[in-house]
Amino acid sequence: GLILAVAGNAVGLGNFLRFPVQAASNGGGAFMIPYFIFFLLVGIPLMWMEWGIGKYGGKFGHGSSPGMFDVLWKNKISKYFGALGLFVSTIIMIYYTYIESWTLGYSFLTITKSYFGLENFELMKSFLYSYQGRETSHFFDGLTTAYIFFLITFVLNFWVLYRGISKGIEKLAKIAMPLLFLFAIIIAIRVITLGTPDPSQPENSIANGFGFIWNPDFSKLDDPKVWLAAAGQIFFTLSLGMGTIHAYASYLKPKDDIALSGLATASTNEFAEVVLGGSIAIPLSVAFFGIATTTAMAKGGSFDLGFASMPLVFEKIPFGEIFGFLWFLLLFFAGITSSVAMGQQVMAFLEDEFGFSRKKSTIVF
Ligand code: TRP
Repeated sequence: GLILAVAGNAVGLGNFLRFPVQAASNGGGAFMIPYFIFFLLVGIPLMWMEWGIGKYGGKFGHGSSPGMFDVLWKNKISKYFGALGLFVSTIIMIYYTYIESWTLGYSFLTITKSYFGLENFELMKSFLYSYQGRETSHFFDGLTTAYIFFLITFVLNFWVLYRGISKGIEKLAKIAMPLLFLFAIIIAIRVITLGTPDPSQPENSIANGFGFIWNPDFSKLDDPKVWLAAAGQIFFTLSLGMGTIHAYASYLKPKDDIALSGLATASTNEFAEVVLGGSIAIPLSVAFFGIATTTAMAKGGSFDLGFASMPLVFEKIPFGEIFGFLWFLLLFFAGITSSVAMGQQVMAFLEDEFGFSRKKSTIVF
């Protein structure tokens, strides 16, 4: 349960939206060279360190980084270094849950075919921006829809946190993670078997879609920005450097194996990211809209790709509302298993360091 929960922590929106855009815009297949170098030299060692610190801190009853740092380094300032973890987790949780709520909203809007009929990228973007409240238009009446889905997401997150590690977070991971993988595999198979959706435009094919994301452009390796992007993606995708892995690892039992657990979660994350995340959004977008449009869409960022070009595809394929529903629900599962991880460390901080009950911690948080 705990390993699945840490995998849920790491597998997030970053795997399905951020990674494909980073890979496609930083040299395609060549991006995998710095990516795997940083995975091996930075990702895995940090993952092990975080599990190690977490397990050690847990022995002293600390489930969050300030207390853990305090037992590691007897110095007045050590706990303040640890407090940075709390600070970053809280800030990211604030925006992450909001984005997560869009995925829930869009799963509903897809199964009800609310945007079906909008024919181009501009209209779909305007639908998205109107949902997000960035643009006023006739699609949505203010922010009501977005707020309703945000409230549901918010309540679910805090309910899981309130229920605690084994009855809340682990239980969520045991349900959400297998479903996430199942949905992602179904969608990836659908993508791979798509062929050439429009025979009059043979260059827009799934094969070229995979080519676009994976054909290596080695000349990009001269560019330090590509190396930075790869290191950044490794940090983001493995949820490193924020104290959230530590918080989960503090629940390990003395006999549990950190080396194995760390590797198991890191490799589960890489499978979800490289194999599944790399096979869905970008190849699909190229197959339907071609390389030039996909490049332009990816420049607009991961959200345009996920929330504007993917819906356009769902309109076009048979049973698209079902595939689209699965896609957004999968993103929601990826999101919620990550956002509760950010919250857990703050909950543990309030409970362990102030002696608050779970209920009181939830309310204060
Ligand atoms: N790894 C998450 C993703 O790929 C994002 C993330 C970064 C995260 N730091 C985190 C999730 C801390 C949970 C806790 O989307």
